[in-house]
Amino acid sequence: MLQFEDSNMTGTAGSNAVHPRTQPAISGASEPVGRRVRIEDKFVINGKADVNQLVPFKYKWAWDKYLAGCANHWMPQEINMSKDIATWKDPTALSEDERLIVKRNLGFFVTADSLAANNIVLGTYRHITAPECRQYLLRQAFEEAIHTHAYQYIVESLGLDEGEIFNAYHEIASIRDKNDFLLPFIETLTDPSFQTGTPETDQKLLKGLIVFACIMEGLFFYVGFAQILVLGRQNKMTGAAEQYQYILRDESMHCNFGIDLINQIKLENPHLWTQSFCEEIRGLMSKGVELEYRYAEDTMPRGVLGLNAPMFKEYLRFVANRRCQQIGLDALYEGATNPFPWMSEMIDLKKEKNFFETRVTEYQTGGALNWD
Ligand SMILES: [Fe+2]
Ligand SMILES: [Fe+2]
Repeated sequence: MLQFEDSNMTGTAGSNAVHPRTQPAISGASEPVGRRVRIEDKFVINGKADVNQLVPFKYKWAWDKYLAGCANHWMPQEINMSKDIATWKDPTALSEDERLIVKRNLGFFVTADSLAANNIVLGTYRHITAPECRQYLLRQAFEEAIHTHAYQYIVESLGLDEGEIFNAYHEIASIRDKNDFLLPFIETLTDPSFQTGTPETDQKLLKGLIVFACIMEGLFFYVGFAQILVLGRQNKMTGAAEQYQYILRDESMHCNFGIDLINQIKLENPHLWTQSFCEEIRGLMSKGVELEYRYAEDTMPRGVLGLNAPMFKEYLRFVANRRCQQIGLDALYEGATNPFPWMSEMIDLKKEKNFFETRVTEYQTGGALNWD
C-alpha cells in the first residue's frame, strides 16, 4: 500500500524535469492533423499536445495516483450507522460539547466538498493540459461527490436539522470566514473568461492550486478530521468516524496529488516562482492557520474529549510547515511539533486496523477496503 503522506516526492516530478517554455496557452489545443503525440510536447499547463491521448505517459505519478484512488473506492452506505444513531438519540451518551463538534463539523464539510468538486470540474480541469493529470482529476471529482454523499448520509442518519447544517457556511462565522477566504481563488479558476498563458495568469492558476491543495484540502480539513477521529477513538460515533477515516485517506491523496502538480508546474515554469510570489503564498498560509485556529476555538469553547483549542494551534503550525516544505518554501513556524502523531497513522490505514471495531467483512468493494 502507498504511504500517502510521503509517497509523492520521490521519483515523481524530478524524473520529468523539462525546460521552461514560452508556448501560448490554449487549453486542449491539438497538434496538426496526422501528427503523433510526443512526450516532449506534453506539459501540465499550456501544453499543445492532444489532450485526448492518454499515452504516451509522461506524468506516471498522476496515473499511479489515479490507480490508487480507484483501488481505494468506497461508498458511504457500506458503513453501518446504527450504533451512531443510538448514541445520538441517547441524551446521556454525548455531552453538549461533543454534539457541537459533530454539528459544526458537518456544517463545514457538507458544503466544502461541493466547493472542491466545483473547483475541479469548472476550474482546474480546464487549465491542466496533461491527460494523465486530468484522469486523476476526474477520479478526484467523483471522490468529492462521495464525500458530500457521506456527510449528507450522516446528517440524514442522525436526523439532524438539514437547514441548520447546510446553511452553516452562511450562518456560522468561523465556517463562513474559511469559505470567504477560499472563494476568490475558486472564482478565479472557474471564471469562464480566465485562461492561462501569461506569467500573470499562470501565477494566478498556481496560486489557486496551492490554496486548494495546501490550505483547503491540506489544512482546513484537519481540525475537523482530528475531532471526529478522536470521538471514534473513544468509541463514540464510530460509523461517522469510519467515514471520516476513508475521507481522510482520500483527501491525503488529493493533497499529495495537488503538491505533485504544483511542483511539476514549478519545474516546467520556474519563472513563476518569484520571491514576491513565495512571500505571498507564505502570507496566505499563515492566514489559513489563523482561520483554522479560529474554527478550532469556535468548535471547542471548552476542553472536550481530551482536546482543547490551544493543542490545535501547535498542530496547525506543524501541518502548515509541512505544506510549505512540500512545495519548496521555508517553514513558517520554527520548531512546531505534532501533538497528534496518531493522525499520521490514521492516514495510513495499515496501522490501527479494526480500531473502531467495525464489521469489515460486510464491505463489498474487495481488498482495498480490507483492513488486513
Ligand atoms: Fe473531499
Ligand atoms: Fe479533496
